[in-house]
Amino acid sequence: MEILSAEFVVSNTKVEKCPQDNLPEYAFIGRSNVGKSSLINMLTKRPKLAMTSSTPGKTLLINHFQVNKEWYLVDLPGYGYASRGKKQVEKIQQIIEDYILEREQMTNLFVLIDCRLEPQKIDLEFMEWLGENGVPFSIIFTKADKLTSGKAKDNVNKYLRKLAEQWEELPPYFISSSEKKTGRNEILDYIDSINRS
Ligand code: GTP
Ligand code: MG
Repeated sequence: MEILSAEFVVSNTKVEKCPQDNLPEYAFIGRSNVGKSSLINMLTKRPKLAMTSSTPGKTLLINHFQVNKEWYLVDLPGYGYASRGKKQVEKIQQIIEDYILEREQMTNLFVLIDCRLEPQKIDLEFMEWLGENGVPFSIIFTKADKLTSGKAKDNVNKYLRKLAEQWEELPPYFISSSEKKTGRNEILDYIDSINRS
C-alpha cells in the first residue's frame, strides 16, 4: 500500500473526543519506550509526525493520524512506566482501557514487544486481558536492528512458544525495525487487507 498522505488530526484523553467520522483505526500499544511513536513515523515515512523520545513516557495522550484520508493510525501512551507516580500511572491506565474497550472504530490493536526481552509478565497479562475482552490484536516485535536477524528470530520463536502455553491460536505477528525501516510492507499490507475485507 502506498502512503499518499498522513496528517495529525487530534490529541486528547477522552474517547468521546476522538474523531467522529467512523473511519477504521489501527492503534499501537505496549510498554513505554518500546517504539510505538517511532513505528508510526516509519510506516508513514514522516519522521516527525509522532513525537518520540529516548526517555520513557513521551506519549501521554490518544493521538489520531489520518492516512490516505481513509483510515487512522492511533498512537497511545505506553504502560508500565513505574517511576511516573501512582496517580499518573492510574490515569494513563484509564485512558488506555477506555479507548480499547469503547472505541468501536478500533479495527486492530498492534501490541508492541521489544524483541530483545524475555517474555514480560506485564505484556502477557495485558494480552490475556485483551483476549478476555475479545479485542482483536496482533503483535509487532520491535527494535530488530539491535540483534542479529538470527537472534531476533530465535527470540520471537521463544516468545511464540510461551504464548502457545496460554493461547490456542496465536495472533498474527510482525518483526520490525524503525531504525532500519524493516517490516513496513508487511504491516501496511496487513492493514490494507483488513481495510479491504
Ligand atoms: P512512549 O511514548 O514513551 O510510550 O514510548 P514509545 O513506545 O512511543 O517509544 P518511542 O517511539 O518514543 O521510542 C523510544 C526510543 O526507542 C527512542 O529513543 C527511539 O529512537 C528508540 N527506537 C524506537 N524504535 C527503534 C528501533 O526500531 N530501533 C532502534 N535502534 N531504536 C528504536
Ligand atoms: Mg510514544
